[in-house]
Amino acid sequence: MSEDLWSSVDSYLTSKLLPPDEILESVLRDSTDAGLPAINVTPAQGRFLNLLARIQGAKHVLEIGTLGGYSTIWLARALPPEGSLVTVELDPHCASLARRNFKRAGLSTLIEVREGSALQVLPQLKSEHRPPFDFVFLDADKEHHPDYFEWALELSRPGTVIIADNVVRGGAILDSDTDDPNLRGIRRLFDLIEASPRVEASALQTVGSKGYDGFAIAVVIT
Ligand code: SAH
Ligand code: DHB
Ligand code: MG
Repeated sequence: MSEDLWSSVDSYLTSKLLPPDEILESVLRDSTDAGLPAINVTPAQGRFLNLLARIQGAKHVLEIGTLGGYSTIWLARALPPEGSLVTVELDPHCASLARRNFKRAGLSTLIEVREGSALQVLPQLKSEHRPPFDFVFLDADKEHHPDYFEWALELSRPGTVIIADNVVRGGAILDSDTDDPNLRGIRRLFDLIEASPRVEASALQTVGSKGYDGFAIAVVIT
């Protein structure tokens, strides 16, 4: 089975399930024009995240890793009018493009972009005594996936859903001797989940137009 086949099936499913979306298409076009890497979730994955947030009834969403705001828009569209979404982005260039995209999508009032390193912003969020997040999407540098996961727990309540992106990496996560900090981070995330009595988790391997990868999904129990 080839990447071409995964891509063709992804295109078929997307054409059947997702209506054309000028806003999201222009977000991707502008992101490419601005030189951003095309490492956003796929359309079908974006819709999948949107559905999960709706199934969960999420009102307050946290995202780590905004890029041009593609996944953010999918998540924000799941929110009721009184909802809120905080998205954290290190790169100021990405953050300002994302803010423009949120304005264009009519979602600026729901979305707050926090510019800075997630390991600095997350403790700030904790100190602000906001309501717990209902849904968290971790998609920044994978080296710090486990650290972000621990912060997500700090900012959660029982029932919060935490999703971590890119946890399979074409199967490369099987390499226990790897020096790659991202792969080590992903493996450390699974060690943490294994040892944590606070969550119950699963993971889904995915194939499609962005190759072979996967999501981890956890529900906070206590
Ligand atoms: N969620 C986006 C893709 C995010 S790509 C989507 O699917 O549309 C990963 C992003 O994480 C990049 O924009 C990168 O700049 C950001 N990032 C990397 N390290 C970070 C850090 N330490 N803190 C916050 N953001 C970081
Ligand atoms: C990369 C990051 C992502 O979040 C992703 O979904 C795919 C690739 C990357 O850094 O290569
Ligand atoms: Mg990702």
